[in-house]
Amino acid sequence: MTGPSVPAADWWRQAVVYQVYPRSFADANGDGTGDLVGITHRIPHLVDLGVDAVWLSPFYPSALADGGYDVDDHRDVDPKIGTLAEFDAMVAALHAAGIKLIVDIVPNHSSDRHPWFRAALAAGPGSPERDRYVFRHSDDGPPTDWTASFGGPTWEPVGDGWWYLHMFAPEQPDWNWDHPDVREDHERTLRFWADRGVDGFRIDVAHYLTKDLSGPLPTQAEIEAGTVPEGTHPFNDRDDVHEVYRAWRKVFDEYDPPRMAVAEAVVPTHRRPRYASADGLGQAFTFDLLEADFDAAQFRAVVEQNLALARAAGSTSTWVLSNHDQVRHTSRYALPTGTSLPAWLLSDGTTPRADEARGLRRARAATAFLLALPGSAYLYQGEELGLPEVADLPGVVLQDPTWIRSLGTTKGRDGCRVPLPWNTDGPSFGFGPEDGRPAHLPQPPWFGRFSVQAQAGDPRSTLAFYRTALARRRELVGGEDLDPLDSPDGVVAFARPGGWVCATNFTTRAVPLPAGEVVLCSSGDPSGTGVTELAGGTTVWLRRAD
Ligand code: NOJ
Repeated sequence: MTGPSVPAADWWRQAVVYQVYPRSFADANGDGTGDLVGITHRIPHLVDLGVDAVWLSPFYPSALADGGYDVDDHRDVDPKIGTLAEFDAMVAALHAAGIKLIVDIVPNHSSDRHPWFRAALAAGPGSPERDRYVFRHSDDGPPTDWTASFGGPTWEPVGDGWWYLHMFAPEQPDWNWDHPDVREDHERTLRFWADRGVDGFRIDVAHYLTKDLSGPLPTQAEIEAGTVPEGTHPFNDRDDVHEVYRAWRKVFDEYDPPRMAVAEAVVPTHRRPRYASADGLGQAFTFDLLEADFDAAQFRAVVEQNLALARAAGSTSTWVLSNHDQVRHTSRYALPTGTSLPAWLLSDGTTPRADEARGLRRARAATAFLLALPGSAYLYQGEELGLPEVADLPGVVLQDPTWIRSLGTTKGRDGCRVPLPWNTDGPSFGFGPEDGRPAHLPQPPWFGRFSVQAQAGDPRSTLAFYRTALARRRELVGGEDLDPLDSPDGVVAFARPGGWVCATNFTTRAVPLPAGEVVLCSSGDPSGTGVTELAGGTTVWLRRAD
């Protein structure tokens, strides 16, 4: 949210941020991969949608061992995606359209093609070059039995009796954050992008980075049992990681307005405020809503808890239903409660059967709920189209390292990363030019039905709903308070400052509307014209004299 009443430094506190996964957004040069020029061309879509900021997932040079989160050079653009000049042009065009830009920073690891990692391998054991990463000697198998995020051990041998640590894929060696070069280099990276006009940073796995492997080290079983004391874990959510963020805050504050940051910190809820503190990153993601069932009690509890946590940190909460790591929320809500999503993906989306109409109805209701909450709303590209997960991608096209590293037992995240459909037809549904190469992940034949073109002229479409919701939010949003309202069982209702009321019916039966003039409805016509009751699986916003 921006406007005369919001100090420039606080623009992010109640912003609507739209996540662009650049390789799958828009392909201007026709090589099958999305690019920066493609993003620039599609800025009118973002303006029509009404977002305040874009969060751009990694666009840095990368071999794509992990979708770009394996970074070869943090201060450049992947030549397959564009150039620094095209980046500058994109920033200028976004800013001219009144949209801010947040870029992804990946500080826990580099790629194994990073010049410093190559130098570390070449220089050999005990060298200063190796000291920038986390190497351990062991003649007897991996130094610990820890399991990496995509499966397999966290240690990779380099052939001389030494192993390097990687919390993710082997192509993502972890930095040694005790090394001053690593700290200085990351501050240089932050300034590099801030100097180019970037307004903020999304910090990847902010809970890792610092490590203390001086031992004795816990086993995987001990880690999973949660017996390691908080704050002194060998690699996770250590108290000393905040020294890094306090130093970064000084860098952010060199700019006017200060650059913002949002932590991806997957930590116990009570540890999250540390990441969101004003002398640290300033804001932290909460994924609690994303993990909740479509259930009034769960949604209510998540909101209460997270608003309290954000207040404790002096920050605002973040709200997320979909991102590039998750099964799209339209599809999640289409499945029976308790469905194992990996098992559903492995069945190519056949078992259990998805009730798509129910999924979309609930997704729209949950989105309207989220957009009425105090704090920042993070939307993921394609959710404004109600795009379902592409659950039936065959193994041969999958790019997520999870697929290979789980030996074909877990499909991973490609189903939410399929390039967007812009047009009803054409070789890539308008993702790339007519004569371009096919999209880098195959789009299903039904994609055109969800395209921007198919929905743009339909006043009841999901796209029309998002546009209306974001426009209304801009008119209604003011102070950061939320007052819970009494409501029937299965309904959550609350008031925001200025006479804005939101009510969500999580049941399947209609209930009476709260008092006020309906200004948004998540089902049917988004304007809410003629709505006389709060239907099941529906959110309404109302305006009333306060
Ligand atoms: C979190 C990112 O969201 C995910 O996509 C990535 O695989 C890991 N961090 C590793 O960087």
